[in-house]
Amino acid sequence: MSGPVHQSESDTNLTGRRAEWQARALDAETRAQLAEDERHFLRQSVSTPCLNAIAKAEGIFIEDVAGRRYMDFHGNNVHHIGYGHPRLKKAIADEMDRLPFAPRRYANTTSTALAKKLGEIAPGRLSKALFTTGGSDAIEVAVKLARTATGRHKTLSFWDAFHGAGTGASALSGEMLFRSGPAAPMVAGAGHVAPFACYRCAYGYQTDASGAPPLETCRLTCARMVDYVLAREGDVACVVAEPARAVPFVPPPGFWRSVREACNRHGALLIFDEIPTGLGKTGAMFACQHDGVEPDILVMGKALGGGILPIAAVIARADLDVGGDWAFGHYTHEKNPVTARAALTTIEIIEDEELVENAARVGAYALERMAAMQARHPSIGDVRGRGLLLGLDLVTDRDSRTPDNDLAEAVLYRALDAGLSFKTTMGNVLTLTPPLTVTEAQMGAALDILDAAITAGR
Ligand SMILES: Cc1ncc(COP(=O)(O)O)c(C=O)c1O
Repeated sequence: MSGPVHQSESDTNLTGRRAEWQARALDAETRAQLAEDERHFLRQSVSTPCLNAIAKAEGIFIEDVAGRRYMDFHGNNVHHIGYGHPRLKKAIADEMDRLPFAPRRYANTTSTALAKKLGEIAPGRLSKALFTTGGSDAIEVAVKLARTATGRHKTLSFWDAFHGAGTGASALSGEMLFRSGPAAPMVAGAGHVAPFACYRCAYGYQTDASGAPPLETCRLTCARMVDYVLAREGDVACVVAEPARAVPFVPPPGFWRSVREACNRHGALLIFDEIPTGLGKTGAMFACQHDGVEPDILVMGKALGGGILPIAAVIARADLDVGGDWAFGHYTHEKNPVTARAALTTIEIIEDEELVENAARVGAYALERMAAMQARHPSIGDVRGRGLLLGLDLVTDRDSRTPDNDLAEAVLYRALDAGLSFKTTMGNVLTLTPPLTVTEAQMGAALDILDAAITAGR
């Protein structure tokens, strides 16, 4: 039995346009692989049944079974350094020869070196780490740590956010697809407020034609609501949030400073989920650095394993290290030297190849090009982003700002035909998150594909 089609952080796999594209684009071998996949995997929204089958992933490209190459401007945000970076593959192989595993009761130099390195690159006073296999687990570790340090249990997070698929992380998330139906009932004490989303403000304020938030009128109502709820509850352990939202939405100026002050006022810790944004995606090593705000705990994952191995990390202020009697994340791979080596080498590659700087540079070029496209296409209601976290919000008309999901889907499949893979979020936002290795020429080619696809219409 299939359920309703929910708009969420990803395009869904149940639409008519997807079926049409597959009927037209996939060959017999690919269909056979997809059928076999569906036979053996449990179905779920946004993955199985799959869109297509791939045979190669290299640099910014994936290649399907039929030999077609796509620039991967999605990549689940794991591919910051590009797929299959030779230096990373060698480092992983060498580590496997040196020390293939460490049971978690045994220290090893590679895991320790990674924890030390994360303390060096993380903002401000964050210095003590714990590793997990995935981001969802790391989020739950962070919340447990905040509960221990504050002696409180409640959390406050944002509607429309995604923090992972575990029961605890689902409770923090704010999307129906991940928190309703089989995910309910939620963890008690998990409250939510509407997020910043200037072009689609939940409090009814409107950006001007340039896309700027009306700060004099709204006076950051979205941040003041955080303060309001923290005051009404009085005993919230932590605020959990993505510093730049994956939709994407960038925070209005002053938002995080205001939330930081509210947390300080009410004794709540601030946890930043930088699982997709950390390690340079937004053109700074961490997205929160754009806003000059330091969290008490920061969570990273995804690209940390270099797009090859799964590893996530929590990094906290040293004075929050107060839970030695409890187990926060007793994960099997907590001290795995091979995943730690992958993370260390990934960070070294990002630094040595100056990929954060490249993300800032190519991202600025993209935003300029996207603004020029917006001037020509009435269907582009808003362009936004930071670094290589970019979005084009498609609308049926600019006055009503009605999301144009149908056009977004048409563009998605036309772009695939032209060799560009990306995802839509909330149904109508073309969301571009290429590797940090992308060149200006490749970004230009991708935007040319989108320009032509939007011109062609639905
Ligand atoms: C913002 C955010 N938080 C948490 C997660 C969960 O990470 P994982 O899939 O590694 O559990 C994701 C994954 O998409 C994410 O985008």
